[in-house]
Amino acid sequence: MRNIITGVLAVALVGGMSVFSLNAIAADEPEGASESAAVAGDAPSADGECCPKDDQTPPLELIEKTPIGGLHNPYNDDTAAMEEVGHKKYLSFSCNGCHGGGGGGGMCPPLTNDAFVYGADDDTLFRLIALGSDELQKQGYTRVRKEVVTGPMPPFGNIIKTSDDLWKVIAWMRVKNPSSVEDVDKPAQTPGQ
Ligand code: HEC
Repeated sequence: MRNIITGVLAVALVGGMSVFSLNAIAADEPEGASESAAVAGDAPSADGECCPKDDQTPPLELIEKTPIGGLHNPYNDDTAAMEEVGHKKYLSFSCNGCHGGGGGGGMCPPLTNDAFVYGADDDTLFRLIALGSDELQKQGYTRVRKEVVTGPMPPFGNIIKTSDDLWKVIAWMRVKNPSSVEDVDKPAQTPGQ
């Protein structure tokens, strides 16, 4: 719960927008939902292969059990199929309040250009969106590329309920940013590895 509150505060601080919808989502969270999903969630296989489609594991839990560099978007083989559903989810999580409806930026960095602050790979983006940039930096990541806007990205790990939802949003981003596709498996940095 604390993470959600921090997220909402961060949103309020950065943009003063999207606060109401995020609050609404936070208030709706059923208690214990993540525990039950955890039991049902797919664990990565022994060789560390990750990640399956339709994964109901909460993003924060998947991060905890997957070594850095191990998160791979299961929808990369056909991101176009995820364009519509991914965009709907992007809007439903109010990402557009900061990054614009089409991901082209606004008060926050565009998701459609070639500059990715921490790296353009699946693993880094999944962690950034779920943990937020403050926590990512605590874990040893630094800003390796300059973006047009600098500021904290709030954590969405408690707002985006399933890893599947987050992968679909990232798949949509790949459709909007085709040149980033060549970096999906190439982290710009792997702290602690
Ligand atoms: C309150 C405003 C805000 C909201 C809401 C927000 N972001 Fe961000 N986002 C940022 C900021 C600011 C950064 C830059 C972080 C940094 O420089 O450390 C960022 C960075 C990113 C990046 C990396 C971009 C780059 O150029 O490296 C991605 C990807 C991203 N956000 C995706 C999302 C997604 C997906 C959502 C919705 C689930 C979302 N963001 C919601 C503010 C926001």
